[in-house]
Amino acid sequence: MALRNIVKINSESESVLYKKTRIVEKFDAKLKQLAEDMIETMHAANGVGLAAPQVGLLKRMFVMNVDVEEGDLVVINPEISEMEGESIAYEGCLSYPQMFGKVKRPFKLKLKYHDLNGEVREIEAEGLKARCICHETDHLYGIMFTEKLIGNLVHESQLAEDEEHSKG
Ligand code: NI
Repeated sequence: MALRNIVKINSESESVLYKKTRIVEKFDAKLKQLAEDMIETMHAANGVGLAAPQVGLLKRMFVMNVDVEEGDLVVINPEISEMEGESIAYEGCLSYPQMFGKVKRPFKLKLKYHDLNGEVREIEAEGLKARCICHETDHLYGIMFTEKLIGNLVHESQLAEDEEHSKG
């Protein structure tokens, strides 16, 4: 396994963050290696999610970990449906260090995706997990959370300790 560089805004390589990704069609050893690297990189950066463009690749996939019991999840070619309710909370991004902003996301959703073997899977998610799925799926279409802000960006030092704030 190897750590990958996380592409940051205002860096030379930031343009990859604003591009649409391509559907993944080859479920091979190279893809598994990439997923392992992304998981390691996400944990090293204390994130709950990481999308392929954030490591410079226009592949439609992300990794996430918001649930201790479930552990790491690799999501390929995601399709979100049946969104319900709404939730407004602070979120941040590993490509946008130390800044957080409030974003409205559905409280609940259904997600259909491919796993690393190319099998179709379907899950339901709510709360933080649904938020993370939306944030990471946005990355796959070149959309940063800052395009959806309610109010201003705030530095993490200004957030109350008990304020929920995830970054992905
Ligand atoms: Ni992000």
